[in-house]
Amino acid sequence: MNDWIHAERITFHDAIATMEVDFSRLTFADAAQVDAFYDHIERRLTETGRRWFFLVVYTDCVITPEAWRRFAERGKNTNINHSLGSVRVDATAQTRDAIRESAGRESFRANIHNTRDQALLALGEMRKRQRDTHGGADDTFLRVENVSLRFGGVKAITGVSFEVKRGEISSIIGPNGAGKSSMLNVINGVYHPQEGTITFLGSVRRQMRPHEAASQGIARTFQNIALFKGMSVLDNIMTGRNLKMKANMLQQAFWFGPAQREELEHRLKVEEIIDFLEIQHIRKTPVGRLPYGLQKRVDLARALAMEPQILLLDEPMAGMNVEEKQDMCRFILDVNDQFGTTVVLIEHDMGVVMDISDRVVVLDYGKKIGDGTPDEVRANPDVISAYLGASH
Ligand SMILES: Nc1ncnc2c1ncn2[C@@H]1O[C@H](COP(=O)(O)OP(=O)(O)OP(=O)(O)O)[C@@H](O)[C@H]1O
Ligand SMILES: [Mg+2]
Repeated sequence: MNDWIHAERITFHDAIATMEVDFSRLTFADAAQVDAFYDHIERRLTETGRRWFFLVVYTDCVITPEAWRRFAERGKNTNINHSLGSVRVDATAQTRDAIRESAGRESFRANIHNTRDQALLALGEMRKRQRDTHGGADDTFLRVENVSLRFGGVKAITGVSFEVKRGEISSIIGPNGAGKSSMLNVINGVYHPQEGTITFLGSVRRQMRPHEAASQGIARTFQNIALFKGMSVLDNIMTGRNLKMKANMLQQAFWFGPAQREELEHRLKVEEIIDFLEIQHIRKTPVGRLPYGLQKRVDLARALAMEPQILLLDEPMAGMNVEEKQDMCRFILDVNDQFGTTVVLIEHDMGVVMDISDRVVVLDYGKKIGDGTPDEVRANPDVISAYLGASH
């Protein structure tokens, strides 16, 4: 397959921010053919310097079993690096199964439609949702202003201000002890700063209590997983619903009337999240028996069960291998895409941070030394020297 043949199969529709890829009647027989095509796509996408929605047409496309693994791998990477969301058209039964199976295993959404028109409609909805969440009103979503936090003589945070926009993925980075976790603890009301204010959804406060933060839609995962190890995955995720349960204890104890109806509704929501995060196979397993990477995913599920407006993730990928990290990245992007959830992420892996963040805040010794887009932060001399001097 020559470059110019690949070129004919790729169309950029600027008006709808969409790259269309036409795989119809193509056969991918081995990894080399997959690489040739994806190298071409990657090059074209990189040249544009921006992200696109993907519309992929699979009519009569054949991906042989020898090629499939590479196809899934390359597809996933391209999604992570360049996609705002994907819709797929008309995969043959076989390819469809392969995509679904891979969507299950590799954690991207299948999103397969029968016709190109249906796919375009779905894509329109996806764009609209993102416009609503990303572009919407310019009222402040979350603003941290001049926050200082001390523990006795230790200055954990000194005069830090930054803003998080609705629908964005923001990262907080910085060396160990820089004050990152403390900052999340201030935002969700676990720590009370001596100075400064937090503005969330229009109301200004000096401090809040954790349950207030939670009931206002601030959810949190922890650097050290805070799950009930002896309880099943399902029950752990249900704890995320507690706040939303209205029926009183007596009704719950006797399992009747409103309590029964409510419990069923909560179960449904939880099952939806279990599907979304692809953890059906472990729903009954006690959390303590799961490998670390899956425990982190369950922790994310518990936080999502709160249906938060903003999700605070403290090192969700720490201790994971490359593959687990890619999966977690995809989930974070999916949550952001599909639910419009705003995300604030603490992460040490710079590759991940630069790939998935809209905005990055850099802390060092409790002070903010940088703030901006990944490119701006990467070019900031203070940030560079802090990182060169640090152990990361
Ligand atoms: N509850 C606490 N009591 C006393 N000191 C604390 C407390 N929490 C944090 N600190 C101190 O505040 C500073 C910032 O800690 P923090 O945990 O916020 O850093 P971090 O950036 O999350 O680091 P890491 O990358 O290691 O997780 C450190 O000096 C830490 O020892
Ligand atoms: Mg920390």
